[in-house]
Amino acid sequence: MVRRLVASKVDQVLVTGDITHRGYRHEFDAFRNLFEPLRDRLTIVPGNHDRLGDDAGNDMMPNERVRVELNAGMYLVRVDSTGPHNRFLLASHGQITSEDLDAIESALDAAPPHHLRVVMLHHHPVPLPEEQLCERLSTMIGWPYATELQTGRHLLERVAGRCDLVLHGHRHRPSHRVVGTTRGRVHVLNAGDSLTLGAARQFSYRGEELSLPPSWLPLGSARDQRGSSASPRATVAA
Ligand SMILES: [Fe+2]
Repeated sequence: MVRRLVASKVDQVLVTGDITHRGYRHEFDAFRNLFEPLRDRLTIVPGNHDRLGDDAGNDMMPNERVRVELNAGMYLVRVDSTGPHNRFLLASHGQITSEDLDAIESALDAAPPHHLRVVMLHHHPVPLPEEQLCERLSTMIGWPYATELQTGRHLLERVAGRCDLVLHGHRHRPSHRVVGTTRGRVHVLNAGDSLTLGAARQFSYRGEELSLPPSWLPLGSARDQRGSSASPRATVAA
């Protein structure tokens, strides 16, 4: 995967959490070693799995819930959507507080002109179909294991008109929803599990103009990849 991403000459690589399986620091170290060739164009957010074990997720965004980065023409608002309950494996759902919503809105209001404005978080803000038996069972008994962010709808209302794209992970199947809000439409996109899919989602942008729908970057052989696009390109992996 890393070889392919390097060969593709993408401008940014965005990884939407669950970087580790059990939240151990040695798992995060292994990820950092693998992704070292992409270090200058790599952006991550923590997922629920990263909060287990050693709480490697805390190393991914130490003492911050919302952080802004400006890279390759993209104004990126990184959001930690995990909560203290994610220290337990069976409580994988996310958490965005009203303070987080205020911080996200303030961050987006400070975006410079002519940049693509992206909000990046792990958990899904929209309802999505359950993918596994344990998710279906938990929904049947009313356990929030597989549900969307409780404040997901509020999040989309707050970011509509302020950002061009919301990226999330968590779910293994890719999705792209266009959600209507009182402030306009929001594109909500999940790359899916890149390793299982054998492909990473890829999109091009120029200034605040985003080319949709996104394409797929195959993660197989790198032999035929030349990376000749003139527009900045970012790849999302989950
Ligand atoms: Fe997750």
